[in-house]
Amino acid sequence: MTQDELKKAAALAALDEIEAGSIVGVGTGSTVNHFIDGLATLSDRVRGAVSSSEASSKRLAAHGIRLFGLDEVDEIPVYVDGADEIDGNFCMIKGGGGALTREKIVAAVARRFVCICDASKKVATLGRFPLPIEVIPMAAPQVTREIVRLGGRPQLRTGFVTDNGNLIIDVHGLSISDPVGLEERLNQIVGVVTNGLFARRGADVLLLAGAGGVERQVRD
Ligand code: A5P
Repeated sequence: MTQDELKKAAALAALDEIEAGSIVGVGTGSTVNHFIDGLATLSDRVRGAVSSSEASSKRLAAHGIRLFGLDEVDEIPVYVDGADEIDGNFCMIKGGGGALTREKIVAAVARRFVCICDASKKVATLGRFPLPIEVIPMAAPQVTREIVRLGGRPQLRTGFVTDNGNLIIDVHGLSISDPVGLEERLNQIVGVVTNGLFARRGADVLLLAGAGGVERQVRD
């Protein structure tokens, strides 16, 4: 199976996680795109979606799935999203697509985070994938200096502006032994909007697609 076929298998397995009549939290990325397309086949069973990006909103709307804002929902039973890396404790690096801030906001409202991945995303230690950090544009030089002090190699993502009008700095060269601590430390840097570590609020369920099928793992 190709990597895209594995992404699709994980995404379609997530349809079984959705509660009938509920509003679904929807992430961003190529894996989630398969999930959105699958969701369209269930659209009479879900009330609608809270989206984490303009791209996902556009795809959801094209399928006729009703979009809700966070001011319109009391709770989101399930949030479904991909990851760039996920470790054994279900901490993740996200934001390869640059939607990390809205993803983190919608995930924070959700009762359960269902992560959908192909097997290549499962790692022992986070950090081989460059860690995205969303920054207020005027703060980028200062945030860059702070990251160097922390031992990372920051690289401004060129030609990219987030849905919130900000910039992304991708941090290379990190081996993240304490994801919760680093997530909190990075959020202390003035000018950082969010970092792509999803450790304080990690995934609850992982649907991991490999050659043998989709394995459902639940966080202890
Ligand atoms: C988007 O900003 C990301 O957090 C994605 O969830 C992550 O990059 C996974 O993307 P793919 O599903 O495209 O691999």
